[in-house]
Amino acid sequence: MKVPFHDIAQRYAEEREEILACIDRVLAQGHVFLSEEVDAFEASVCAYTGAAHCVTLNSGTDALMLGLWALGVGRGDEVITSPVSFIASAGAIAHVGAKPVFADVREDQNIDPADVERRITPRTKAIMPVHWSGRIADMDAIHAVARKHGLAVIEDAAQAMGGRYRGRHGGTLADCGAVSSHPHKILAAFGDGGFLLTQNAEFARKVRLYRNHGREARDNAVMFGVNSRMDSLQAEVLKFRLSRLDSVIEQRRRNVAIYRARIKPGPVFIPPELPEVFHPYMMFLVQADDRDRLHAYLAERGVQTRIYYGTPLHLHEASAKLGYKKGDFPVAERQCERVLALPHAQHLMAEQIEYAADQVNRFYGG
Ligand SMILES: Cc1ncc(COP(=O)(O)O)c(C=O)c1O
Repeated sequence: MKVPFHDIAQRYAEEREEILACIDRVLAQGHVFLSEEVDAFEASVCAYTGAAHCVTLNSGTDALMLGLWALGVGRGDEVITSPVSFIASAGAIAHVGAKPVFADVREDQNIDPADVERRITPRTKAIMPVHWSGRIADMDAIHAVARKHGLAVIEDAAQAMGGRYRGRHGGTLADCGAVSSHPHKILAAFGDGGFLLTQNAEFARKVRLYRNHGREARDNAVMFGVNSRMDSLQAEVLKFRLSRLDSVIEQRRRNVAIYRARIKPGPVFIPPELPEVFHPYMMFLVQADDRDRLHAYLAERGVQTRIYYGTPLHLHEASAKLGYKKGDFPVAERQCERVLALPHAQHLMAEQIEYAADQVNRFYGG
């Protein structure tokens, strides 16, 4: 049996008619960007998430950078984030001129608010929790630290579309939140894309200007900006896919429930669900003994798994200047040696998930 990890071609096969209709609609109008399709997608994201403002951009990375910029983070500032993330979390901080500072994570792979507090210095300006795999970080505790020390909070909600914390959507739980619609994300475009969510009208206004060269009118740029517009084709496809997001999440959660019931406890740790967090399972991550051999064993049996990621951010070459070393974040480092993403996409059938879970058990002699 084959249990594939990524689903781009399969999704296209299932949605071909609707996707082609989206493309036809946009091309027939001659729309390219900053069109009614983009406005409509932004409005549908606001309706889905409860955000007051959604500004579409051309990646989640840009959403992080422009969110930091809108918050006034810049040269000389420090921003505390998680070493368990994609490199863009730290990269965005560095690109606005600030210094990424890491804090260790908890067993669920999200940032530990107590360690965040220990890392605060007079230069700390903001905290950037990462909702890793879509599971929302401990926002009450993060806000308590932020309030105590007068810090801003920006959510790296790149993976958190559909994720909720006490009923509120990821990316709407702080000053602003950055979401990615990269093709591997749960709300997936056909190329790069992302958006900033915020309740703050002034942040939204600034980022709207910045994404379009700072142009207020065709012949008047009020500041120097960049080109970070989401194009109309991606917006139209994303609006269609947003209308299906709840059913995608439901099917992924059904698949995860099969894994939870079937994988024998012991060598594989599956972080438990918390009552305050609704997990959309952009990824389904477990922590496994002898991870590399399990990864190879499953591949030989047709079960594709992925390692997200094998190296914590402080140990990337790019972080060398920050002065960290191995051993600085023991929980994150241990998790990076054990983490494995199991295939759980919505189109996978119960038999495929059962087969994959059985192979995991067999590897450990079960
Ligand atoms: C946690 C995290 N942050 C930031 C990003 C950057 O998003 P993008 O690839 O859309 O630039 C990603 C995704 O790739 C991510 O997973």
